Amino acid sequence: MTTKIAPSILAADFANLERDITMVNNSQADWFHLDVMDGVFVPNISFGMPVIKAISKHANKTLDVHLMIVDPDRYIQTFADLGANVLTVHYEACTHLHRSLQAIKAAGMQAGVALNPHTNINVLEDTINDIDLVCIMSVNPGFGGQSFIEQTYNKVKALRKLINDNNANTQIQIDGGVTSKNAEALVAAGANVLVAGSFVFKSDDPTTTIAQLKELTN
Ligand code: DX5
Ligand code: ZN
Repeated sequence: MTTKIAPSILAADFANLERDITMVNNSQADWFHLDVMDGVFVPNISFGMPVIKAISKHANKTLDVHLMIVDPDRYIQTFADLGANVLTVHYEACTHLHRSLQAIKAAGMQAGVALNPHTNINVLEDTINDIDLVCIMSVNPGFGGQSFIEQTYNKVKALRKLINDNNANTQIQIDGGVTSKNAEALVAAGANVLVAGSFVFKSDDPTTTIAQLKELTN
């Protein structure tokens, strides 16, 4: 499995969004990672439907939408209509996770589940075969630019074992604090989709930084 790089648009320059989307289109990045925050599930508000609609007009790669919102079921069809290809909900925000996953797939998207740093991967034992992607949060969700939590490696290994033991096809995504310092070790532990926000967009040459992450992990 090749490793995918998913730049997080949260760290882009919102006053130059079209420029930054074009940069990602023309880079070796695989996906666009779009962080939707509601100020309730997480202590921050990011962007919502009108911005995603504008992004999807220009983006020509997979749109990976990470919902950090309560009661995400209310908006599954809306995000499908906006062009999301992967829709990730938080385990901690879903009372009926299995139902949410089925609804995401019925709307034509890949279904993702994100786990906060305090949530053990064993909560997915009974649903792993229904999940297209698990997003392991390697920071507490809500903000870009935070430091990577080292315990993440153990979680990735445990999740890789759970996936293999169940012959599942689930992708393992890492979100938060990803840099050239931890990317290789994350892939060695079993991850195959790396989200990177600040490391890409705050670098002098984002296109080269994406290429460097791609090179390191493939
Ligand atoms: C955090 C978001 C992340 C964030 C990552 O809540 O889910 O996707 O944009 O940003 P960096 O790579 O700067 O940690
Ligand atoms: Zn995210």
